[in-house]
Amino acid sequence: PPPAGELKIPHANPAIERQSQSIYFSLIVPTYNEARNVEQIVRVLTGLLDHALPNDYELIIVDDDSPDRTWEIAQQMTVDFPNLRVMRRQAERGLSTAVIRGWQAARGEVLGVIDGDLQHPPEVLLKLLQAIKNGADLAVASRHIEGGGTSDWGLIRRVLSRGAQLLGLVILPSVVGRVSDPMSGYFMVRRSAIADCLLSPLGYKILLEVIGRGQVDRVTEVGYVFQERQEGESKVTWRQYVEYLMHLGKLRSRGRISRLREKFQLGRFLRFGLVGFSGVFVDMAAFYFLRTSLGLNLARSTMLSAELAVINNFLWNDLWTFGDIARGQPGKRQRFKRFLKFNTICLMGIILQALIVSLFHDVFHVSEFIAKPIAIVLVTFWNFWINLKLSWRV
Ligand code: GDD
Ligand code: MN
Repeated sequence: PPPAGELKIPHANPAIERQSQSIYFSLIVPTYNEARNVEQIVRVLTGLLDHALPNDYELIIVDDDSPDRTWEIAQQMTVDFPNLRVMRRQAERGLSTAVIRGWQAARGEVLGVIDGDLQHPPEVLLKLLQAIKNGADLAVASRHIEGGGTSDWGLIRRVLSRGAQLLGLVILPSVVGRVSDPMSGYFMVRRSAIADCLLSPLGYKILLEVIGRGQVDRVTEVGYVFQERQEGESKVTWRQYVEYLMHLGKLRSRGRISRLREKFQLGRFLRFGLVGFSGVFVDMAAFYFLRTSLGLNLARSTMLSAELAVINNFLWNDLWTFGDIARGQPGKRQRFKRFLKFNTICLMGIILQALIVSLFHDVFHVSEFIAKPIAIVLVTFWNFWINLKLSWRV
């Protein structure tokens, strides 16, 4: 199967726009070999939701082409359950991608997930829905708060589960520390909190991805007791533990890199440098043209070609380097203002360059051919920062 890569939940599902039938709640039920549970869970969930949100919800079973034909049972039920949809996936596998694929196809404003094996008590759904109605962006069913627990887990299972959580707290406190049960696969989230965020589903723990990548402000937790499995069997093996660790590492490095990027604006600075580099060629070409073809004198040619380079750099910077910011300040007047500031700052930069060169040359007795590149680098930093703060105003 092709790797899922990074996936996005759309702000509004195109299907909604077309048919103008947005609904409040979409609940995903991922299944793999749950033939003996699927009928009951659909019945219980629709019973609850028909009451709480009559015709304002959908239930989406996402089945990975289960050998026990869970999908077939579910498909047959759609006749009697109009709010039930079934996705049978044949090209992709995995719990997290199943949930995300379901959300991508969903029409709801609020997106939820619940296990398909009845280990998550269905009544808790109503409390989760209430939490969202009360303003939470994310409502999580938790085993580790008041009213929560596990039925009778052995010592080893408890230790493994808590150990994984503790490890998560050490590796990624900003994500794992936000909820008491970060391993929960029973929760709901506002679409707006995760829309257009890149989610890279890895392993079993989709909640980590939602907290780590989404814009989740308010979190509410609701206690629940994790039930024993009555039918079928768990799909968890040692492999899920390894994937969990890899997932934590990935989220962590992603967070660290993007924070660094944001702080130092690395990408932006590289673009700025590249644009500056292009300016050198514009400057030289114009200078050559003005001197040879137009026969302007040296001082005029130098100034005019420098100004042309400044204009060139401004246009590229406004379009590319700072394009994201510029698009937020539209209009010819605004653009002209940015240009004037950019021009002034560049002129000041040239004066600064002259000062630095003479400082290195006259005071520190550095060769002028070494002093000049040092000055260029320093002034590029100056130009970048001042323009960032004043011309494009971050
Ligand atoms: N579509 C799809 N594809 N579904 C899957 C897959 C898959 O590859 N693997 C598992 N599922 C479905 C199962 O059929 C079940 O409905 C649900 O996902 C959970 O799988 P289990 O194998 O029963 O997991 P568990 O009981 O050990 O753990 C569950 O409970 C934890 C505690 O709340 C998971 O849901 C965890 O995410 C959750 O934290
Ligand atoms: Mn289970």
